[in-house]
Amino acid sequence: MNTKLVIPDRFLLNAPKVLAMGPPAQTGRMLLYHLAARTGIPLEEMDLLDYGCGSRFADAIVNLEIPIKSYTGVDVKADMVEFLRENVTDERMSFHYIDVFNYVYNKAAPPLHIDSTLPEALSDRSFNVISMFSVITH
Ligand SMILES: C[S@@+](CC[C@H](N)C(=O)[O-])C[C@H]1O[C@@H](n2cnc3c(N)ncnc32)[C@H](O)[C@@H]1O
Repeated sequence: MNTKLVIPDRFLLNAPKVLAMGPPAQTGRMLLYHLAARTGIPLEEMDLLDYGCGSRFADAIVNLEIPIKSYTGVDVKADMVEFLRENVTDERMSFHYIDVFNYVYNKAAPPLHIDSTLPEALSDRSFNVISMFSVITH
């Protein structure tokens, strides 16, 4: 069993109305099972690349013991990615910083471009589901 993960409030990045729907781990679990139902890929067989990952799915997978095959989170918020890398010990999970522009979290970076690539560490990875929840709003 993995050590419980306590996410600092500063890394709870969901909109207030989403946070009001329930604890992030629980709404994260609901979305992960919804993703499995929509794609027809059971979580046990899902290699998920979550672009703009935030911390919610990590919270759900660790603290509610979600049986996902693997989870790879990518995000522009460097301090949050660093926190997740340091505090999530589950070997199915990894977190990666991407240096692209975000008007709140990464103002100095170049904008995401059609030629942008994923972090080098993911170059030999493959995924059967790619998600992006509440990211386009940025
Ligand atoms: C509202 S939060 C949603 C987090 C998570 N997907 C969820 O549903 O709980 C938006 C996330 O997208 C990230 N983000 C925003 N723009 C991004 C970009 N261009 N590339 C990668 N991540 C980005 C933010 O840092 C933040 O973690």
